[in-house]
Amino acid sequence: MELKSIIMAAGKGTRMKSDTPKVLHKIMDKPLLGYILDNVKNLADESFVIVGHKAEDVEKFVKENYECAKTVLQSPQLGTGHAVSMACPYLEDYKGLVIILNGDIPLIRESTIKKFIDYHNSTNSDLTIMSAIFEDPEKLGRIIREKDNTLKGIVEAKDATPEQLEIKEINAGIYCLNWDKLKKAFGELKNNNAQGEYYLTDIISWGKNNGLKVNAYVLENNEEIFGINSRLHLAEATKLMNDRKIHELMENGVTIVDPSCTWISDDTEIGRDTIIYPSTYLEGKNKIGKNCKIGPFAHFRGGVEVEDNVKIGNFVEVKKSKIGSNTNAGHLSYIGDSELGSHVNIGAGTITANFNPITNVKSKTVLKDNVKIGSNSVLVAPVTIEEGANVAAGAVITKDVKAWALAITRAPLKVLENWVKKVSK
Ligand code: UD1
Ligand code: CA
Repeated sequence: MELKSIIMAAGKGTRMKSDTPKVLHKIMDKPLLGYILDNVKNLADESFVIVGHKAEDVEKFVKENYECAKTVLQSPQLGTGHAVSMACPYLEDYKGLVIILNGDIPLIRESTIKKFIDYHNSTNSDLTIMSAIFEDPEKLGRIIREKDNTLKGIVEAKDATPEQLEIKEINAGIYCLNWDKLKKAFGELKNNNAQGEYYLTDIISWGKNNGLKVNAYVLENNEEIFGINSRLHLAEATKLMNDRKIHELMENGVTIVDPSCTWISDDTEIGRDTIIYPSTYLEGKNKIGKNCKIGPFAHFRGGVEVEDNVKIGNFVEVKKSKIGSNTNAGHLSYIGDSELGSHVNIGAGTITANFNPITNVKSKTVLKDNVKIGSNSVLVAPVTIEEGANVAAGAVITKDVKAWALAITRAPLKVLENWVKKVSK
């Protein structure tokens, strides 16, 4: 069945105390909203992101990164039900499924969303909500069930009676709807509640009153719906995400010497028998081959592709670069916007000078197979060093170097014998 998604991201995120909209705060260099969109993009053919607070910034991020997503402005923000109703004009004739998610739950997995949708379909429901059991549900919406355990509705904490507040089953904020059957609800929601808002959660009772089949899918792992409302939450989610990633990598044959001080983004792939040494920080999207040694203290900033048997050692920063098999960059280097072949050796202290601060242009450095760069060299991009060429230590390379040549930019060495003795007389 066809599936579209609506992601609610118009809220202010007051508790972040930030000039950046909440959904653009980042975990390992990827905005929270990016996690949600990545998790639905393989399931839904189109997504609507409801934007409001700092709408232009969120629109820009979505436009630049997600072809299958549209932004829809909600102004003013009158509640979650009102937020979803903003997408209604785009879905007038749509007859498939719609999944609705909060924009601030980066830990939800694609596989969980898929299971949730499968559950909705296999139970022939018209509306399914995701619920979870929390020991201390604080401000979350409480799930109200009938005596026979079927779903009755959701009560927001602010509207709940003391007895209802005792309920531990809560609304996770993820919904699956047969759009055709529920779209009418959005014109009929009321805002006669404690917050004077149009609650999306009221579609449950609306569905029941209109003879629809409503159902709840109880989530097994609460961690996945951990919502970000503060900087503390952001740090906690980053840690949870990292632990999950490192666990998964170790299960797939990657050695992580010290999981407690290694940071690896969810979008980094690593091959078998690669060893990640402590204090390594791999953010953004990267792909690392088999049998590599990375770190200690290596920093990947995204867009890095490393083939097999590569060694990237301490204090080496790599950004947007391809590194061929059996290549080494052991110590103290910056490799940016570069393409390195196989069996290349990068001496300690080598820098690719990729950025021209006058023109603001970034250029490429290309090192073909078997190139050897002597220590403390600067490769001023754009520059190509052809196969097998050597660069002598301490060089500043501003022109291309031919295959198998030696490039050397060094004032001749002078040795003044007994100079020290003479001057210190
Ligand atoms: C909501 C649910 C609650 C659930 C909780 C889970 C409602 C009424 N309540 O509560 O049952 O337990 O999520 O986290 O839905 N948003 C908009 N426009 C608006 C209002 C909100 O886009 O006008 C967005 C926010 O940016 C956020 C999401 O909707 O991403 C949820 O809004 P929020 O105000 O945080 O709802 P909760 O009070 O947490
Ligand atoms: Ca919330």
